[in-house]
Amino acid sequence: MTYQIALNFEDGVTRIIDCGEDELVMDAAFRQKINIPMDCRDGVCGTCKCHCEKGDYELDFYLDEAMTEEEAEEKYVLTCQMTPQSDCVLSVPVSSAVCKTGAETVKGEVIAVDALSATSFGLRVKLAKPIPFLPGQYVNIDVPGTGRHRSYSFSSAPGSDEASFLIRNLPGGVMSTWLGETAKPGDAVELTGPMGAFYLRPIERPQAWLAGGTGLAPFLAMLEKVAADGTDHPIRLFYAVTRAADLVELERLRALAEKIESLTLVTILAAEDEAHERKGFVTDHLEPDDFNGGDADVYLCGPPPMVEAVRSHMAALGVAPASFHFEKFNPTETPAVAA
Ligand code: FES
Repeated sequence: MTYQIALNFEDGVTRIIDCGEDELVMDAAFRQKINIPMDCRDGVCGTCKCHCEKGDYELDFYLDEAMTEEEAEEKYVLTCQMTPQSDCVLSVPVSSAVCKTGAETVKGEVIAVDALSATSFGLRVKLAKPIPFLPGQYVNIDVPGTGRHRSYSFSSAPGSDEASFLIRNLPGGVMSTWLGETAKPGDAVELTGPMGAFYLRPIERPQAWLAGGTGLAPFLAMLEKVAADGTDHPIRLFYAVTRAADLVELERLRALAEKIESLTLVTILAAEDEAHERKGFVTDHLEPDDFNGGDADVYLCGPPPMVEAVRSHMAALGVAPASFHFEKFNPTETPAVAA
């Protein structure tokens, strides 16, 4: 049996490695040319300590000086003593460069550019090989002929040699200009990643997911994962855009809702002159019940003002959710800050 171990480095880079059920995570990383800091390899020094965000594992011998009982209870691990019992996600407290690795670059070819609405494109890319990533993460995509890149969350599920993205149509933007005027099937692109701390954690309580515009993309990838794994916990996805014409991927969302019985889709339009049952901002429609008295995970992907508005709204309601993960994207469509 082989498990996948996602190593999330301090600089936002993620590498996903294979690790046998009897293999030490440190050895598996080394075999795949990633040098997690280490000294003793015997559970004595604590140099290889990481935090396990997700997954089950066994730890062999270690001294209290290397890792305390409290740290072990908080799911810190010594990678030189750790064998996985499931797929895992580890936070590595150093940069990828320190571990002599970095984000991987994969070549791709445009399959199609779809004008999904006046404000967004769908980009589908055939990859030379699948890019392992955690649902919710992003890659940098180079903009051919410009020497520049932009960052986009996958809207597709991991494990495929086809990837898809939702891209905001930003007049004058380098990616938007290329997609709107030049890009065609067969064009070569390069994708570097995956990156980002915005990814789906284990679902152990009700979920409130908040998407602003093309911030829907990571939630599509997350929903594909939930559809495959299943959950009984309620997921309320609030999808906020300006106008009805800006709502995209509705058919896909409905198909996902058929597979995920606990999923509720809530659309919100900001424009006052639209005929829609929910208008205004997402905060106008977030009720205390949506946070389940604080026993809820909140995920948000949208522009910075949306993040701040939701944070203030939760504070005004007196709600402190069990976790709040967000990704802000700025006008260049680059996920700038994740938490
Ligand atoms: Fe010393 Fe792992 S390298 S405890």
